[in-house]
Amino acid sequence: MTHKDFIPKSTFKNTVTGTLSCQSPSNIALVKYWGKHGEQLPQNASVSFTLTNCHTKTTLEFSPKTSKGFDFTVYLDGKKEQSFEPKIKTFFNRIVSYVPFIEAYRFIIRTTNSFPHSSGIASSASGMSALAMCIVSMEDLLLSEDISDTYKKQKASFLARLGSGSASRSIEGPLVVWGAHSNIDGSSDLFGTIYPKHIHKNFTNYKDTILLVDKGEKQVSSTVGHDLMHNHPYSAERFKEANNNLTKLISIFENGALSEFIKIVESEALQLHAMMMTSQPYFILMKPNTLEIINRIWSFRKKTKSMVCFTLDAGANVHVLYPENETEIVSEFIKKELTPFCKNGDYIEDVVGLGSKLI
Ligand code: DP6
Repeated sequence: MTHKDFIPKSTFKNTVTGTLSCQSPSNIALVKYWGKHGEQLPQNASVSFTLTNCHTKTTLEFSPKTSKGFDFTVYLDGKKEQSFEPKIKTFFNRIVSYVPFIEAYRFIIRTTNSFPHSSGIASSASGMSALAMCIVSMEDLLLSEDISDTYKKQKASFLARLGSGSASRSIEGPLVVWGAHSNIDGSSDLFGTIYPKHIHKNFTNYKDTILLVDKGEKQVSSTVGHDLMHNHPYSAERFKEANNNLTKLISIFENGALSEFIKIVESEALQLHAMMMTSQPYFILMKPNTLEIINRIWSFRKKTKSMVCFTLDAGANVHVLYPENETEIVSEFIKKELTPFCKNGDYIEDVVGLGSKLI
């Protein structure tokens, strides 16, 4: 498919006034997207577990208008949130050729996150995917012909990507690939696709406990971070390595080898941070407590032969990943040994899920 496949071919019905609501989760990358080109196109393929409990609910109210340009107001938790407007304006500018009707409507966007705004958890994946799902559902109401569910999901992911790259992986689940990869049929730079091959039962209902180490504003925005991969001395190797890691994960997903899974996932997290530490300017986004947690996970694994491991986003929080059958022992370990390193002892228990839904 090309971007032209997402430009509507049929005409729009009469104008309507209405409300649509969507709930969309966050996701956690196992192979990381870090570096982009063109209009939100990834430099390498990535794969993520879709989450469940960390989600955004968005309600889109729309009514026809005749004035030119975009017209929208955003509310976060019932309060007008002007700081979101520039990001949404950029998003609307990027998507308008694929959903031209957005210029003919006035929107009220009401959004709430299941996690606190100050938790340091990026809300762009859940937020942009929820908004993209609402817009595609609205298009479905307006179009004079039926569009298939498969196409709607592809288009929602395509639009979500234009809002935030990782958001393209939140429309579906449990495991989503974004970025063309020669060993994964159907994978595309334009939208996320459900991982199409066999997944061993070891990965069913995989758990992710997110340890909130640092809740402040992001030190480096992802836009700035991605930009630093241009002219980065190690970027070409990093992009190759990410694609190689995804190739390795294919047989791991097939045979359920969790010890091999851990090696790839932890290495990916550290490579992401290594890229930030070696860019110009350079950043260290881990905090002393991030390292403390990582070391304790390693000791616990050595002592107990548990298959618990960690991954990181572009920040100090730690995602603790473990198979469902270890829930009891790992939860106890987290509560006793890891939560003392979280801000106010805060953490979020999550599990792999199936993506966005209309509510
Ligand atoms: C470290 O999707 O937030 O979480 O496309 O600029 O919005 P933009 O970037 P974003 O980058 C996410 C980077 C990451 C890794 C990942 O999720 O793959």
